[in-house]
Amino acid sequence: MKKILFVCLGNICRSPMAEGVMLRLVKEAGLEKEFEIDSAGIMGYHEGELADSRMRSHAARRGYELVHRSRPVRTEDFYAYDLIIGMDDRNISDLHDRAPSPEEEKKISRMTDYCVNMLADHVPDPYYGGASGFEYVIDLLEDACAGLLAQLQK
Ligand code: 4NP
Repeated sequence: MKKILFVCLGNICRSPMAEGVMLRLVKEAGLEKEFEIDSAGIMGYHEGELADSRMRSHAARRGYELVHRSRPVRTEDFYAYDLIIGMDDRNISDLHDRAPSPEEEKKISRMTDYCVNMLADHVPDPYYGGASGFEYVIDLLEDACAGLLAQLQK
C-alpha cells in the first residue's frame, strides 16, 4: 500500500487536480487497492469547498470529476502518508517547516520531479490567470502523475 498526499496552497486547484489524475491512472492500472490518494492545502482558507469551478470545468473536459473538498495539511499527515508532494517552492518550503521530524521530512518531494516528457520546475498557481494556465496545470499533472506511477511500479 502506497499513501500519497498532494499539496498546494489552497487545495482548490492544483492538488485536487493531481489527486484526480492519479486516481484515474491507478484505476486504469487496476491498482486501486494498492494506493491511498488524497490532497491538502498549506492554508485552510477554502476548507470544505469543492475545487475551483474553473479547475473543475477544465478537468471535466478531459473526463475528470473532482469531488475532493479542500482541507488543510495536518501534522498527522506526515505520519500517515508515504509521499507528500508539493507543487512549487513555496509549498515545499512550508512543508519542510511543518514536518514534525527529519524522518517525516524525507517524504516531501516536488511534483515536477516526476515529469517525463515536459520540462518544468514547478506547477504554477493558475488561480489569478486565464484558461491556458488551467490547461497547462493539467498537462503537467498528467505527465508527472504518469511518471510517478511508473516510478512506483519499478
Ligand atoms: P491552489 O490555487 O494552491 O492551486 O489551490 C490557489 C487557490 C486559492 C488561493 C491561492 C492559490 N487563494 O489565495 O485563495
